[in-house]
Amino acid sequence: MDTGDQEAAAAQSRAFQSLAELIQGGRPLIYIQSPEEARIHQLLLLAGNRLFQSAVSVWTWSSTGGLCPPEAVGGEAVQLGARAVLDLIAQHESPAIFQLKDFHEFIRSDPDIRRRLRDLYALCLDSGKFVVISSPLRSIPEELDRQIAFMSLAAPDLDELIEFLKLESGNLERQGLRVDRGGTFLFAAARALQGLTLDEARHSLRRAISTVGALDATALPRLLEEKKLLVNRSGLIQYVADGTSIEHVGGLEYLKQWLQERRRLFMERDSLASELVPKGVLVMGVSGCGKSLSVKAVASCFGLPLYRVEMIEVFSGRHGNPDAAFADACRTLESVAPAVVWFDEIEMGLTGQAVGETSSYLGRIFSFFLTWMQEKARGLFVAATANRIDLLPAEMIRKGRFDEVFFIDLPTEEERVEIFEIHLRKRGIDPAELQLHRLKRITQGWTGAEIEQCVVSALTAVKLQDRAVTFEDLHRAALNVIPLSKTMREQVDHIRSWAYERAVRASPRETAR
Ligand SMILES: Nc1ncnc2c1ncn2[C@@H]1O[C@H](COP(=O)(O)OP(=O)(O)O)[C@@H](O)[C@H]1O
Ligand SMILES: [Mg+2]
Repeated sequence: MDTGDQEAAAAQSRAFQSLAELIQGGRPLIYIQSPEEARIHQLLLLAGNRLFQSAVSVWTWSSTGGLCPPEAVGGEAVQLGARAVLDLIAQHESPAIFQLKDFHEFIRSDPDIRRRLRDLYALCLDSGKFVVISSPLRSIPEELDRQIAFMSLAAPDLDELIEFLKLESGNLERQGLRVDRGGTFLFAAARALQGLTLDEARHSLRRAISTVGALDATALPRLLEEKKLLVNRSGLIQYVADGTSIEHVGGLEYLKQWLQERRRLFMERDSLASELVPKGVLVMGVSGCGKSLSVKAVASCFGLPLYRVEMIEVFSGRHGNPDAAFADACRTLESVAPAVVWFDEIEMGLTGQAVGETSSYLGRIFSFFLTWMQEKARGLFVAATANRIDLLPAEMIRKGRFDEVFFIDLPTEEERVEIFEIHLRKRGIDPAELQLHRLKRITQGWTGAEIEQCVVSALTAVKLQDRAVTFEDLHRAALNVIPLSKTMREQVDHIRSWAYERAVRASPRETAR
């Protein structure tokens, strides 16, 4: 592939397209938020080459390095202050792009600089001169908000990553390494790197290659591992490595059936009209009845990786402003598609006292979330869980946001037997001889978690006596369980009656006792 082709391919990337829109729209002051200065510089070079009638060069300024002339012009960097560089841009006579690194600091602290930027806006308009501020933070003062066009640089998309991999594999091959340059491998490797910044992708690649010694299919598992670590760098998103399959979920027949149907539609997502592509499901219900378990089963049913966002972390303040942290997490998630994204206990932060600042975050977070649900990538299936759905804003539950809202009730008699069987089998015990049906009565009002607890305590008891478990052991253990539906009766009743009219049951109603 020659450099011309490579350039054409890079120009397809989402990042370049967003920048092109701003430049072609004639926005003279552009603010790009990203920690990736080098990548921004590459994008600007590409813009200079492709978006103007004759190629335009890119100048770079930083407070430490001064003003560096473009390669074509050559020459030494000139030490210039922030104010002086703006003056120089004002006087510059031909079209050019100026990248100002971390300029937000100067805008923030110096009214003179703010004023000069407003002048520059007018001076550069329609002159082919563009001032591009690059910064890892978004910081635009109000008085410049209308003049400065803002874009946040999304993580590289597949096109950009494939280009990056082609370049890297060329270099590696020259170093004598084994490299697979086939399209299928490049696509799979790009997928594995998706969600990382280009710098992170480069580090991941280097580390993977240093262990496997080649850039081919053998490096893929390493690349995926690297990504799992990095996606979690914010501490907000966790990769959930849990293979719970749908057979490990007892009962919930309607929910399971619904999932099987969505699964087919989700697999065909690229050829379907967007309103048919499954977006997500909201699962609510009494604590311990299998909400988390079902979400894990969704991921394995769809054959996709599962990422979890803990809402309680979002609101903790440990990751900066809750609304900014949340938006950032959603953007990162976007780039790990296809995947199942799990917002766990989504009503967290709504409970307790939402006072002062917290309540304004809440409004912003929920409205962001609802828009994002509509616009997010097709390859993301959102599974949200809630204990207290009655606390959620009504528009969250309305049809169209989620494809379905399921209520997981306390398990029915049949379901309880099935859950017993699952947990016994999981521990290597054949339930056939245990007369589990005799436990139906005593376990009335129990959650799945309580059934599991009963199995575990019966098995612990017999383990100490070195013998096989019997019906009596289970029965004895059951006598010691005090179910939540008794201790927290009011709350459980409240959830059940609330859900009665507003959600679809995950399993059939209990028939006559
Ligand atoms: N329907 C079920 N089938 C099998 N096990 C269940 C079921 N419901 C709950 N459990 C057991 O209880 C544990 C806790 O359930 P979980 O899904 O975490 O509940 P929550 O609804 O609070 O998210 C699960 O890990 C599982 O072992
Ligand atoms: Mg849970």
